[in-house]
Amino acid sequence: MSGKSLKLAIIGGGSSYTPELIEGVIKRADRLPVREIHLVDVEHGQEKLDIILALSQRMVEKAGVDIAIKASLDRKAAIKDADFVMTQFRVGGLQARANDERIPLKYDVIGQETTGPGGFAKALRTIPVILDICKDIEALAPNAWMLNFTNPAGLVTEAVNKHTNVKTIGLCNVPVSMKMMISEMMDCQPDELSLECAGLNHLLWAHRAWLNGEDITAQVLEKVGDGANYSMKNIHEEPWDPAFLRALQAIPCPYHRYFYQTDAMLAEEKETAAHGGTRAEQVMVTEKSLFELYKDVNLKDKPEELEQRGGAYYSDASLNLVDAIYNNQNSLHVVNVPNNGAIPSLPDDAVIECTSVVGSWGAKPISFGKLSPAVIGLIQQVKAYEILTVEAAVYGDYDKSLMALTNNPLVPDITRAKAILDDILKTNYDYLPQFSAQG
Ligand code: G6P
Repeated sequence: MSGKSLKLAIIGGGSSYTPELIEGVIKRADRLPVREIHLVDVEHGQEKLDIILALSQRMVEKAGVDIAIKASLDRKAAIKDADFVMTQFRVGGLQARANDERIPLKYDVIGQETTGPGGFAKALRTIPVILDICKDIEALAPNAWMLNFTNPAGLVTEAVNKHTNVKTIGLCNVPVSMKMMISEMMDCQPDELSLECAGLNHLLWAHRAWLNGEDITAQVLEKVGDGANYSMKNIHEEPWDPAFLRALQAIPCPYHRYFYQTDAMLAEEKETAAHGGTRAEQVMVTEKSLFELYKDVNLKDKPEELEQRGGAYYSDASLNLVDAIYNNQNSLHVVNVPNNGAIPSLPDDAVIECTSVVGSWGAKPISFGKLSPAVIGLIQQVKAYEILTVEAAVYGDYDKSLMALTNNPLVPDITRAKAILDDILKTNYDYLPQFSAQG
């Protein structure tokens, strides 16, 4: 691929995160000859798309790089002959996310964008749309790489891998954020640090951390237990129990709080939902002011205010991946890819999040070998939930949906699983045609 000029298609281009991506492309102009970026969105997002287009054009103009930025509602035109298709859309917008957060809370269950029943509902809405996008990629850009950030990223990537021929890699900003936070607590450069990561998206452990050849896992766990900054902007920073971390012997990701500290996280969510609003409701306010800022014709850079969102380092995660593929770097990245034996007790076609080698040929996870009994049960249970959810989303299958929620560790019993499922299906009726087709 090296030497060829590049076209990027960004599905969900009207997202407030797009300036991050544009900044990432500009920063790498010497290594990535991106000549065209086509932002595409749905009709409802037209106004945001126009604002993002104008800001992106100002950013590239200021940087003096030769990139044509286009925006349209024409998905096919955006995808045609693209080298990379980046997917970052949200079916139903932030209101649908707010519903995903509030429905489970009614039943005393964690209400969160990607984990638990909230992530399940998002998967049901998203998977049919991504499969439709993939049909366009198969027809119009069969050699393109699809880099998927659309949440729940692991499930969406698994659906694409199982049901299409599109070359895809799923990615998330959690692994790179973990690296940044750990380098800050160890007072070292991120490049000096190596993390051996394996798990699932938003259920990722760094099983070993190395600093210049020294195993520093225990030191990191001690610092996290002592209250070092270790969370994403969107996740309440519930303190970790130092004795638990010592016993776990692996560095959990910030999302593990939902699984390991469920009661405290639920109590905090209920409190916030009753007073400040759920995370989606807070993000709606942040988005409004971000778009006001973006409209300013004097703004020619990504504004600092974007840091209030949870997606820190998301631009680096994605553009480093484009760099690794385009320049055939064979470098290490933590991405979502089919397991193929890397974690022996999971199916080969299960998508895992794992330290992987990435080059122009694709991404392959580094075989992790047997995981400790301390963590394997949780991974297997969440993967069972994910497999069932993908089937439920693709086929609009009620029974699979019920079994998916029943297997989710955050749903404590079948009475609540059924009540939450019925509520989700009713509330999301307009976005779930695959279920109404079943009658
Ligand atoms: C984290 C996750 C992303 C998620 C984001 C939400 O960074 O890794 O998958 O999209 O948070 O942030 P927000 O600001 O929308 O709550």
